[in-house]
Amino acid sequence: MRITTPVRLGAVALAASLTLVACGSGDDGDAAGGGETKTLRLALNQTEQHPSFVALDNFGKRLEEATDGRLGIQVYPNATLGAQQEALQLVSDGTVDLAIVSGTQLENLNKDFSVFNLPLVFDSIESQMKTIHDPAVVGDLYSSLEANNKVTVVGGFTQGTRNVYSKKGPVNTPADLSGQKIRVQESELHTSMISAMGASATPMEFGEVYTALQSGVLDGAENNEVSYVTQKHYEVAKFYSRTNHLVGLDFLIVNSDLLKGFSAEDKAAFDKEWAAAYAEHTDLWAKDTEKSIATAEAAGAKFNEVDAAAFEAVLKPLTDKFLTSDAQRKIYDAAQSAGS
Ligand code: GCU
Repeated sequence: MRITTPVRLGAVALAASLTLVACGSGDDGDAAGGGETKTLRLALNQTEQHPSFVALDNFGKRLEEATDGRLGIQVYPNATLGAQQEALQLVSDGTVDLAIVSGTQLENLNKDFSVFNLPLVFDSIESQMKTIHDPAVVGDLYSSLEANNKVTVVGGFTQGTRNVYSKKGPVNTPADLSGQKIRVQESELHTSMISAMGASATPMEFGEVYTALQSGVLDGAENNEVSYVTQKHYEVAKFYSRTNHLVGLDFLIVNSDLLKGFSAEDKAAFDKEWAAAYAEHTDLWAKDTEKSIATAEAAGAKFNEVDAAAFEAVLKPLTDKFLTSDAQRKIYDAAQSAGS
């Protein structure tokens, strides 16, 4: 089954030409062991400064070493292979091998993924990482897209805590968001979340947010400090308010047929180096969050605490509304019990 998402022709044409280049050159030429390196193409919508790029780039280098040059990874940053909806389609088609997509994208294919996109589901990055890499919790979920979409979920990177930011002024209570157009990811759950928080939710692709903020199409958005800075949103929306509504999650996805074609030895190296990659990412995350706050503050951004109880009160009811199956409740309970 195709994912019912329009794919931009530009992205497809670019990805197709990359395939040709890779084949034409015998992939990457001679590998250390004398064979050929298969360079996997990975789509990412972040800049080269973002912890996800750094950790994935290092993942590729270690993988190449661990497989004696049989497998490598080329990370394409800045959504050059397409925005996340498109990247998901391209991985499903096998045109692109791997991608990082936000949990919100997978919720659109299987509602069980929405558990991890719920506000307040994780109380820390540690409990999030523990839950989402526990095969007993996520085994069925991560293989659930294979039959229809040929997409396997490998694991995830934290998006850290997401907070609201606005051009208009500091937000303290849900009432302060009244009438404000706040960008959300393309997700029914997050649209309901921002509406519950008092704003007018505007679903939009990540790469369009800066211009929309600048032109006034949006009054604000919600994201972590790292994206607030790497995307330069602090230049155009300088009030960052700690609503702490969500610890967000990105997934690493791979084309299922490609994954099945790995030898047992290469699959073991892939899994081992991926575990090292998300550990490195978690470590970088804490450091980059601090650096991002300092960068934004130096440029005049203002950070403020909010009335946490007021936001919790409007967000809590979303859990019951969006947890509708036993499978979802099981995952939710595991996430909650991993917390402190
Ligand atoms: C974060 C996340 C991305 C996501 C983006 C968004 O930066 O890491 O995967 O696309 O938020 O808000 O769209």
